[in-house]
Amino acid sequence: MTYRVALLPGDGVGPEVIAEARKAVDALGLPVEWTELPWGSAYWHEHGRMMAEDALDVLRAHDAVLMGAIGDPSVPDHVSLWETILEIRQKLDLWANLRPARLLPGIPTPLAGRGPEEIDMLFVRENTEGEYAGVGGRAHRGLGSEVAIETSVFTRAGCERVLRLAFELAEERRSLVTSATKSNASRFGYVLWDEIAEAVAVEHPGVRYERILVDALSARMVRSPESLDVVVASNLFADILTDLAAAIQGGMGMAASANLAPDSDAPGLFEPVHGSAPDIAGQGIANPAGAIWSASLMLEHLGEQAAAARVLDALATVCHKGPKTRDVGGTATTREVGDAVGAAIGAAAPA
Ligand code: IPM
Ligand code: MN
Repeated sequence: MTYRVALLPGDGVGPEVIAEARKAVDALGLPVEWTELPWGSAYWHEHGRMMAEDALDVLRAHDAVLMGAIGDPSVPDHVSLWETILEIRQKLDLWANLRPARLLPGIPTPLAGRGPEEIDMLFVRENTEGEYAGVGGRAHRGLGSEVAIETSVFTRAGCERVLRLAFELAEERRSLVTSATKSNASRFGYVLWDEIAEAVAVEHPGVRYERILVDALSARMVRSPESLDVVVASNLFADILTDLAAAIQGGMGMAASANLAPDSDAPGLFEPVHGSAPDIAGQGIANPAGAIWSASLMLEHLGEQAAAARVLDALATVCHKGPKTRDVGGTATTREVGDAVGAAIGAAAPA
């Protein structure tokens, strides 16, 4: 059996980090067939669209998608992202975005006095609706009376499936689900979310459930990250919280994500949490850790648990011993880190 993986390097540092993620997977010697797709901002300049017309069908014909990052100063962000990642998440119904925020030994955290044993959170982000539903409009453009409306959409089915997943994942971890909303100020969507969370919690008596206001949670992540296990939140809230979580785990370069449609045959999409970072693109200094970690998540979801662990172990070894890029205290290039991870995977080859 061959795994068919669509590779979407994208813009900026995307191709640089994706090359290293691919190197890590190739070092395993698994039967993986890569399809490299040229979509992104350069494609938009040439074709007037970010992806090919049949892009979703192309992706559906693969077992997984490994993506770098999309975004370039020459294309408005709301265009480039609504025609790529946001479109893919919605149309493939990749409703869950899993973002592990674990501090690996050897990686500095900005939280004073904290270490790896205290920072191990898993964010479960609702990924297709909420504040990212894309519902709204603008009227009276350019006039003093101009109005813009951006509507959040919360469906019972959408909340239920992501909350259930959070509880199931907590059962395999430390059995705590922290659900973050803002139902003191927003009276409808988040209140529905809270009610459903309460009901799903009753179905999972082995898991401790707590509800917290998202503003309070942001402070708690900084003050006592060790008190958190699985955190579940709406699309926008978890987007914001996972940048904070990334900073706590050593920076944006470290963070990985898996966009999934559990119980469907749509391919998962795996991507580092960081963006295209045009300011450092082309310099060969971007941290490939988040991309390599995302490749490990991809292998896990393809059912290759041992291979996924080998990639993550190799990454952890390199984070511990170096080489490391400058954002995490080293001086190495992107490629030197990727080569070291590849070598560590090779060195740990099963007999
Ligand atoms: C992320 C990114 C995206 C998001 C952007 C690029 C649209 O920030 O994956 O966290 O907000 O979801
Ligand atoms: Mn984000």
